[in-house]
Amino acid sequence: EDAEKMANFQTRIDSEDRIEANDWMPEAYRRTLVRQISQHAHSEIIGQLPEGAWITRAPSLRRKAALLAKVQDECGHGLYLYAAAETLNASREALMDQLMEGKAKYSSIFNYPTMTWADIGAIGWLVDGAAIMNQIPLCRCSYGPYARAMIRVCKEESFHQRQGFEIMMTLAKGSARQKAMAQDALNRWWWPSLMMFGPPDTDSQHSDQSTRWKIKRFSNDELRQKFVDATVPQAQFLGLTLPDPDLRQDEVTGNWMYGEIDWEEFKQVIAGNGPCNQDRLASRRKAHEEGAWVREAAAAYAARQASRHAA
Ligand code: 3HC
Repeated sequence: EDAEKMANFQTRIDSEDRIEANDWMPEAYRRTLVRQISQHAHSEIIGQLPEGAWITRAPSLRRKAALLAKVQDECGHGLYLYAAAETLNASREALMDQLMEGKAKYSSIFNYPTMTWADIGAIGWLVDGAAIMNQIPLCRCSYGPYARAMIRVCKEESFHQRQGFEIMMTLAKGSARQKAMAQDALNRWWWPSLMMFGPPDTDSQHSDQSTRWKIKRFSNDELRQKFVDATVPQAQFLGLTLPDPDLRQDEVTGNWMYGEIDWEEFKQVIAGNGPCNQDRLASRRKAHEEGAWVREAAAAYAARQASRHAA
């Protein structure tokens, strides 16, 4: 790359300029954004699957309506993010093919099963809570289209987190059996939620460069710590116990120090060997095949409209 162009680009980044689609950018900047935005988009689309399983099993119409709205929002988040990737010349079809061929990453968290209704509460509370921690700083990402997509995503994400926490509150304040369901879901979703923030900073191969380019505003461990500090008091309010015997509050910093995360489990899940990886990809492929007629009809309609206007 032209050294002067690189220097000017970094000066723009350092002065908090927004980089737009038609601006000059280093190829590596474009490539890492396509990498992260596509994985983010895939996460939103795959993230609908664990929750979708409970839309027909929701315990009331109100819960069903809220869950339906949330799952629909996630699909929209995927759309914004694939559109943001397209501004970097990454075609949506190519990205989706990579996902269906098992060649693309998506957030590890969506490879875990949703065993009971309480899981829907734990996902809203913990997974969307973690997603908010990670996505708020992304509203200040140096790449304009990504940052702007995040602003609307974060507004909808806070509704997702609140409806999940309300489910957990109803269960935790309910019968002994309901509280036990909430505790069981917390036990299964707590550690995978901490893994969502990525490997420890010492193992994070992209953090340094992503921080220099102001794509990443906080490190994986910093955001993980923010999440733990915000969530421990919420678990205490619910009267639930976090499944971490080593959890203790540091008197000086006030931070909640947590126990060892099982990074071997994390590695296995992102290598495709998590509990539900195969099911998730099979569902995604099936939905894509069953949706072919919609894509063909839309393309035929667009072609006819175009020929009408051309005539
Ligand atoms: N799941 C899967 N892969 C992960 C991961 C996770 N939880 N955390 C890290 N990785 C991967 C990275 O993609 C990278 O692999 P790659 O080179 O093949 O892309 C490798 O592990 C090393 O990690 P790094 O820390 O070096 O990677 P990043 O700098 O990209 O940081 C990240 C990881 C913090 C997840 C960052 O990519 C990010 O902020 N992504 C966008 C936000 C996002 O994806 N959020 C979670 C899913 S969205 C969601 O939860 C939907 C909500 O509605 C519920």
